[in-house]
Amino acid sequence: MAGVRALHERAVELAGIQPGQTVVDVGCGTGNLSFAVLAAQPSARVTGLDPDRDALHRAAHKARRRSLALTLVQGYADRIPAEDASLDHVVSSLALHHVDDDGRIAFARDALRALRPGGTVTIVDFGGPASNVEDVGHPTHRHGHSPVHALRHLTRLMRSRVAHSPVVTRNHGNGIVTLLTDAGFRDAREVAHTDHRFGRVTFVQATHTP
Ligand SMILES: C[S@@+](CC[C@H](N)C(=O)[O-])C[C@H]1O[C@@H](n2cnc3c(N)ncnc32)[C@H](O)[C@@H]1O
Repeated sequence: MAGVRALHERAVELAGIQPGQTVVDVGCGTGNLSFAVLAAQPSARVTGLDPDRDALHRAAHKARRRSLALTLVQGYADRIPAEDASLDHVVSSLALHHVDDDGRIAFARDALRALRPGGTVTIVDFGGPASNVEDVGHPTHRHGHSPVHALRHLTRLMRSRVAHSPVVTRNHGNGIVTLLTDAGFRDAREVAHTDHRFGRVTFVQATHTP
């Protein structure tokens, strides 16, 4: 089962970022996906976007401590801080399910606006085909008081809550692929998936082909 760092590394690998390319990390939080980009491609020019001022402060602190150049912008997914057709990559990890319906649609359109022809968007988030089938189950009497079984039950509970949460529901099935296709990306597709301890994680990618 993949941890969050492995999700970030896989997303960066799938994005295929080249030296000097421009990247915006949407919903960057404390910057871990941005740092994974910079670890793989130190000359990339990376901007992290997030509405949470505290998370951005922590990201800035981490960047200073690691002597990494990371631009941070406070804002929402619906307005990507970049000129038209200027970006090589838009990346986003575990953030889209936080964004409401209008915000998601605006994000997908704005990603298309900001990407240069040939630029790519790479999204990793809970969801994808059959991601809504988690069930909680019950701890057995025999194991109910064992810490290991209690932890397993808690994990199952979290998986079920993630799978059935109204915000993640929008990512089920082809939710993210459809979102990008409707915005005008022609080749949006799931390029990988994995199992995180809180549920199925999908990697969706699309290219700006004018
Ligand atoms: C679970 S964190 C993921 C952080 C980081 N991308 C990672 O993978 O470690 C979700 C992030 O989405 C951000 N977020 C919530 N609503 C957003 C919106 N409308 N636009 C952009 N980011 C948003 C939150 O502030 C939070 O930092």
